[in-house]
Amino acid sequence: MDRTAFPPGFVWGTATASYQIEGATAEGGRLPSIWDAFSRRPGAIADGSTGDVADDHFHRFREDVALMADLGLDAYRFSLAWPRIQPDGRGGVNRAGLDFYRRLVDALHEHGITPWATLYHWDLPQALEDEGGWLERDTASRFAEYAALAVDGLGDVVSHWITLNEPWCSAFLGYASGHHAPGRQEGSRSARAAHHLLLAHGLGLDEIRRRSPAATAGITLNLYSVHAASGSAEDADAARRIDGLSNRLFLDPVLTGAYPEDVLDDLGETAWFADNVSGRDLAAISAPIDFLGVNFYSRHTVAAGAPADHAPTTDAAGFEARQAAPSAYPGSESVAFVGTDAPRTQMGWEIHPDALVDVLEMAAERAPGLPLYITENGSAYEDVVASDGSVDDPERTEYLRLHVDACGEAIRRGLPLRGYFAWSLIDNFEWAWGYTRRFGIVHVDYETLQRTPKQSGRWFARFLGGPLGRPAESALASGRG
Ligand code: FCB
Repeated sequence: MDRTAFPPGFVWGTATASYQIEGATAEGGRLPSIWDAFSRRPGAIADGSTGDVADDHFHRFREDVALMADLGLDAYRFSLAWPRIQPDGRGGVNRAGLDFYRRLVDALHEHGITPWATLYHWDLPQALEDEGGWLERDTASRFAEYAALAVDGLGDVVSHWITLNEPWCSAFLGYASGHHAPGRQEGSRSARAAHHLLLAHGLGLDEIRRRSPAATAGITLNLYSVHAASGSAEDADAARRIDGLSNRLFLDPVLTGAYPEDVLDDLGETAWFADNVSGRDLAAISAPIDFLGVNFYSRHTVAAGAPADHAPTTDAAGFEARQAAPSAYPGSESVAFVGTDAPRTQMGWEIHPDALVDVLEMAAERAPGLPLYITENGSAYEDVVASDGSVDDPERTEYLRLHVDACGEAIRRGLPLRGYFAWSLIDNFEWAWGYTRRFGIVHVDYETLQRTPKQSGRWFARFLGGPLGRPAESALASGRG
C-alpha cells in the first residue's frame, strides 16, 4: 500500500507543538507560559523535566525541515507560541518571535511543504493566567488580539490556520483535574474555561477571516468513540455523560451553535451558561469553518461505578497522584473507565483503529460535507536504540499502518476525510510525562539532540515516496552507510 491508494490531493503530514519541541524558552523576547511555570512545580512532571531545551527545534529547525522533506511530507502542522509573539499576552507584536516562525515557514516553502499553523497548543502567557487564565472571559479577547498579530505577521506565507488544539484538555486537564498547566482544580467551574476557549476560537476565526480572507481555517478537537461496558441503563448513562463532556460539549456549539443541555445539567452549570453565554457568543463559535481537525488516539469504554477501580486511560498524567486528584470529568465522577482486551500503547491507551471512522462519522453527522482532517494520530512505545544507532519500532509502525488503513476505510465509506497528520515528527516533551513517552517517528537522543528516523518514519517515507523510503538514497539521507 502507498499513497496512490488515496485520492490525489489527500494531504499527508506530521504534527508538533511549540512547547513540546522548541526549547529556547528565554530567547528572542519570549516570556514564560503556563507550561514553564507548571513544569517547575514539584511532582507535576513525571521526570521532573521542563521544555527549556526540549528538541532545541528553535535552533535546529532547518535540520527538522530537511527531515520532513526526506520523509516526503506534503504539510507540516506546528504551533505558534503565544508568549513568543505577544510575550505577556497584551500589546504589540514581538518581532523576534514572529521572525522565528517566518524563518521556519520560509524553510518549509523552500521544500514545497505547506505550513499548517495552530495558534494555541496550550502555552498561554503566564501573565494572562495570573489574571485568571481561561476562567476569565477577557482571555478570549486577548486571544483574538494575538490571532490578529499572528495573521498580520504571517498571513502572506501561511494560508492554513487552526485556532485551538484540543480545548477539552485545556479546560478539563488544566482547570479540573489539574494534570496539565495551569494545574488548577476548579471542579465544574472548569466548563466556563471551555466556553471561553470556544469563544476565543470564534473571535480568533473572525480575525483570520477579516485579515486573510483567502485563508483556510478550522479548529482541532480530540474526539473519542465512547462505548458503554454493558447494556444496562446505568452504563448507557455513563456513556452519555462521557460522550457529552468529551465530544458534544465542543462539537455541538462549533458545528450546530448550541451547547448540549444534558451536559450543562450534569455539570450543574446550566445557570452560568444561561447568564453568560449570549447569542452573539454562539454565533461567533459556530461561524463556518473550512475544515474540522480531529485528533484521534483511542476510544473509551465506560461503566457506572467507582472510578478508583479503573484509572482513566486517556489523560496524559497518570501517576499515583491521579488517584487522589479530582476527575477530569467534573459532575461525572462516578463514571468508571473500563479496560477491554484490546492491545494498548505505552500510554495505556487502547488501540481501536475502527473508532477513527466512528469519530469522523460523529463530525459528519453534524456538518455533512465539511472537510475533515486527522490532525494528530500516533503512539508511544519504549524505543530501543541498536548498537548501529538504528531504532526499530515495529509496534509504532503497525499502529501507523492500521490507522492509515482506517483513513482509507473512512474514504471508502464516503466521509470527507482530506488529510492525515502523524503525531509526531520527533520525540518530544510529552506534557506531564516529560521525556518518558516517545511519540516520534524520528528518534531524538536527549543527550546529543541527534535525530534518527525510526523504522516507522522509514515506513511512512516509503508510503509517501519520500527519499528516506528509497533504499539507495536513505543511507545518504541519514548520513549512515
Ligand atoms: C494530544 C496533544 C499532543 C500530544 C498527544 C500525544 O492530546 O495534542 O500535544 O501530547 O496528545
